[in-house]
Amino acid sequence: MKPLRLLILLLLVLGAQPVFAEDSLLSPETMNYIGYGTVIVALIVVIISMLLVLKAVKLVTAALADAADPAAATLTVEEKVARKKAVRKDKWIRLWSLKPLSEEHTLIMEGEYDGIKELDNPTPAWFMYLFYATIAFGIGYLLVYHVFKTAPLQYEEYNIEVAQAAKEKAALLAKTGAAVDEKTVKLSTDPTVLSSGKQVFVSRCSPCHGAAGQGIIGPNLTDDYWLHGNKIADIFKTIKYGINTMPSWEKLLSPKEISDVSNYVKSIHGTNPPNPKAPQGVKVTD
Ligand code: HEC
Repeated sequence: MKPLRLLILLLLVLGAQPVFAEDSLLSPETMNYIGYGTVIVALIVVIISMLLVLKAVKLVTAALADAADPAAATLTVEEKVARKKAVRKDKWIRLWSLKPLSEEHTLIMEGEYDGIKELDNPTPAWFMYLFYATIAFGIGYLLVYHVFKTAPLQYEEYNIEVAQAAKEKAALLAKTGAAVDEKTVKLSTDPTVLSSGKQVFVSRCSPCHGAAGQGIIGPNLTDDYWLHGNKIADIFKTIKYGINTMPSWEKLLSPKEISDVSNYVKSIHGTNPPNPKAPQGVKVTD
């Protein structure tokens, strides 16, 4: 057994190689393939050895049976083969629920048609097992999906996947900043939009417009007076491109952030914060 042991050891070492050989000259893919290959070869070796062990066990049991049954030991090889065949045939017949030809007459049904008689053969055992298996499966299915509801039904599964995809899409859009601009920006009162807009406002805009938008260097953003328009598109444009001393945020904020902070600016209108800056621009009412 020594050479086999050596081979298995070698395979294991080779198989483990891709795990720790980080600075190897081989590409990671090649190493993976080597890894998979060795694992498969090792599995084949294991299967072959298992078959060998099985064979050995069979030989030993046969020898033991011979020892226990001296009559069997005296049988010739042909007789042993014949016995085996008989056992196999018996199994086959039972599997199909067949009756040996000699007993067929017990199956003949009453009545004959033009000399033709029918056999009342039972349904084959394998078919009945399959049938019972479907019943067991049906009960299991019922319990899992409808009684204990441990797994989602197809329609629920679909909904879960759609929701998941929507989440991923939203995350992707949030990351890439969507392609929103002053023409497509939409007014929104969605709390997540407003809270993300508030974050931008507090960190980027409050130094000039005040933490509450009451105005410092920049104008009061909560009153009715506007220099550059109070529509969501106007505000988006002012923030994106900047105007006069109001800086442009196009390069510093993503389109989504600009859209969010525009909506936040819309949302703080009429909040009357303390110490408001004097009105600038013209009075605009919606
Ligand atoms: C460096 C100071 C400064 C910063 C920072 C700043 N602004 Fe301004 N902002 C101004 C000034 C000054 C004006 C007035 C521009 C003018 O005189 O036309 C203004 C104007 C505006 C207007 C137009 C108001 C109107 O009456 O039409 C909006 C809206 C605005 N800012 C939003 C923002 C937002 C949102 C941020 C943060 C992303 C921001 N600002 C950051 C200085 C600033």
